[in-house]
Amino acid sequence: MANQEKIDLLIKKREEAALGGGIKRIESQHAKGKFTARERIDMLLDEGSFEEYDMFVTHRSTNFNMDKSHILGDGVITGHGTIDGRVVYIYSQDFTVFGGSLSETFALKICKIMDMAMKVGAPIIGINDSGGARIQEGVNSLAGYAEIFQRNIMASGVVPQISAIFGPCAGGAVYSPALTDVVIMSEKSSYMFVTGPKVTKTVTGEDISIDDLGGADVHTSKSGVAHYKAEDEEEGLMIIRKMLEYLPNNNMEDPIQTSCSDPLDRIDDGLNDIIPENPNQPYEMKEVIWSIVDDNEFFEFQRHYAKNIITGFAKFNGVPTAIVANQPNYLAGVLDINASRKAARFVRFCDAFNVPILTLVDVPGFLPGSRQEHEGIITHGAKLMYAYGEATVPKVTVTLRKSYGGAHDVMSSKQLRGDVNYAWPTAEIAVMGAKGAVEVLEGKKLAGLSPDEAAKYAQEKEDDYKEQFANPYNAARYGYIDDVIEPRNTRFRVLRAFRTLTNKKDMNPPKKHGNIPL
Ligand code: HXC
Repeated sequence: MANQEKIDLLIKKREEAALGGGIKRIESQHAKGKFTARERIDMLLDEGSFEEYDMFVTHRSTNFNMDKSHILGDGVITGHGTIDGRVVYIYSQDFTVFGGSLSETFALKICKIMDMAMKVGAPIIGINDSGGARIQEGVNSLAGYAEIFQRNIMASGVVPQISAIFGPCAGGAVYSPALTDVVIMSEKSSYMFVTGPKVTKTVTGEDISIDDLGGADVHTSKSGVAHYKAEDEEEGLMIIRKMLEYLPNNNMEDPIQTSCSDPLDRIDDGLNDIIPENPNQPYEMKEVIWSIVDDNEFFEFQRHYAKNIITGFAKFNGVPTAIVANQPNYLAGVLDINASRKAARFVRFCDAFNVPILTLVDVPGFLPGSRQEHEGIITHGAKLMYAYGEATVPKVTVTLRKSYGGAHDVMSSKQLRGDVNYAWPTAEIAVMGAKGAVEVLEGKKLAGLSPDEAAKYAQEKEDDYKEQFANPYNAARYGYIDDVIEPRNTRFRVLRAFRTLTNKKDMNPPKKHGNIPL
């Protein structure tokens, strides 16, 4: 064969691979409102940056006449490219080829780029759209999944791992995304479940639709399995790009600082009035966040789940920073099981990737009740405590209003190695709220009084208690609070605190790993 013929053959093979499962299946993919695996890669990466690996790989199965059906690439596109000039490794499952189902070789392709990402210290992005284990391959497919899971586990905390779910993701296949740092689901076309509606009906008798069982709404608001719900695939891909702005390439690097045109000493007089006179009245914590961060830009994480705690990313002087904040506007900002789990995972995610953490506190305590107790609020609350106490990134805490009891300790208190702890003059840092305290301390006395006398007496005692304890100065007296700051200066004070902490070094004792209360 002449050289030119050889080159022509290469071009022909490339064209063949680019078509995946063929025009008809591509059209069917488009008809479902979905993009193809290659289109997704092109939309995500910097133009022209994609380098594909293993385009000529085909499966090795001979079962069910599979030896008569080979498609170049075998159903997954893998390789690397750049996002904003930074190298990322990527795989994108191709539903047009055997329904994107995972074969032995399909898994090997994914493993290869995961290994490369670990070697060079670059993020891994997986785009999922697959019918799961390739049925014709049997246990080889299961083994393939397990190879990927093992790599997900080893990469955890070493390089950022982001999963987009743009189609089916069912059975054991869900465990790869679940092991990654960020899961994004497209609203109309994706679903995730361990067991689908049919088997659910057979085994439990429950009749439920695909969406109600494992759609994007369910997983972003009820289960917490997914972190972002994207209106469509374009938005999902945009979220991946945005996410990487706040993360380093790997755990040995810091997130990248960008230029900042927002004045560092910008004050906001509105913050002096944001806390209502009535301590039981809510306010919007996100207004505080928007006010103090660069350019009012806050990229919320897990927005629809456990809304009583806010998690997300922003920048201070262009430095990517994580924010954890109680939300008085939702369940009074109480810490419950879901809020504890959400924030604990977020704190560990940020700590793993050297993202400093700002904590804004207004927490009335842990949610009381048998339901929470029986479902293990003790263990789940301990997760958040563990996460904060273990974190070695710079930690700045500002207490805006309530900070009661165990929840006070948990929310990045001084004793959990909070580096700089500020409070607003409106802060109430105490063992519990006035009402509860009076009930405990004066219970016997109140029981002996008439209802009118009891109400009057209780009010007096509550006023006394508030006077003595519902302020930041008791904590400040002991140095648990480093300074009481004027709310309008918060941006500047937080910024300066983080700037001083830039070269902070903190260590945990050597150990194999801790035993976080999972
Ligand atoms: C082989 C598969 C396949 C699979 C789909 N296809 N899933 N081939 N193995 N797992 C093929 C179909 O035969 C079909 O081929 C093509 O892909 C498109 O599939 P359709 O069914 O036509 O598409 P659609 O109607 O959109 O339905 C998509 C689907 C459905 C809901 C995903 O295909 C489906 O239910 N597939 C099986 C899902 C499943 O049970 N997987 C195993 C889960 S257990 P043709 O040639 O006809 O176009 C699992 C264990 C993992 O994954 C364990 C890890 C530890």
